Amino acid sequence: MRRRLAAGNWKMNGTGAALAEVTALSGGHPNPQVDILICPPATLIQRMAEVARGTAIAVGGQDCHKARTGAHTGDVSAHMLHEAGASHVILGHSERRTDHGETDATVRAKTEAALDEKLVAIVCVGETETQRDAGETLSVIGTQLQGSLPDHGVNGATIVIAYEPVWAIGTGRVPTLDQIAEVHDFIRAGLVDRFGEDAQGIRLLYGGSVKPANAADIFAISNVDGALVGGASLKAVDFSAIISAL
Ligand code: G3H
Repeated sequence: MRRRLAAGNWKMNGTGAALAEVTALSGGHPNPQVDILICPPATLIQRMAEVARGTAIAVGGQDCHKARTGAHTGDVSAHMLHEAGASHVILGHSERRTDHGETDATVRAKTEAALDEKLVAIVCVGETETQRDAGETLSVIGTQLQGSLPDHGVNGATIVIAYEPVWAIGTGRVPTLDQIAEVHDFIRAGLVDRFGEDAQGIRLLYGGSVKPANAADIFAISNVDGALVGGASLKAVDFSAIISAL
């Protein structure tokens, strides 16, 4: 049985004042059946981990470098995230792939670094609108999964997969429930084929314009084990409503 996971990705939003949202969320009796994670900007990880200590809320990073230390100006390593209090890290988000030219090989190397530091890696995949219109969705997802995941150490305790159609991120547009189900079933089958029955424990999140109003329908889909939420995770009132729907 997979526990559900509500993961908030704050992206490049939030300064110290936003930590009040974490306090509000933890005080709002979140659903005990659901694991809750917030991934703030790197500048807030340590402070958020302190605010969240003793609550049901875990803290994660939004990216890490593949190396542990070294001459990589502006980067943060998995080791540093772990030391700052993170338990998870988002890798291969489409904004990283687009803004920073990250390839599947980059994501795979970062995933290996995260696993070495005992961070749970949330590996993101998703098609562009052009790819969907061309009927390439499943082949794109298959290629991303194949290239972004290491061959060893992949199981439900180490890896989470987030399916995020690029065209649904921050747009208010959401695939149909059948489209989400098709991709999640495809991901599950691909993981089991490659990693065996252990892959049944890997949680699959949907991400892209998840809101309180559409969360329950999306979470009712089999093989949807939670959500990776952007904009609606910034305010405790919205994120809490999504958590309640899980
Ligand atoms: O990582 C989160 C996703 O990119 C979804 O963002 O909920 O603002 O559409 P969104």
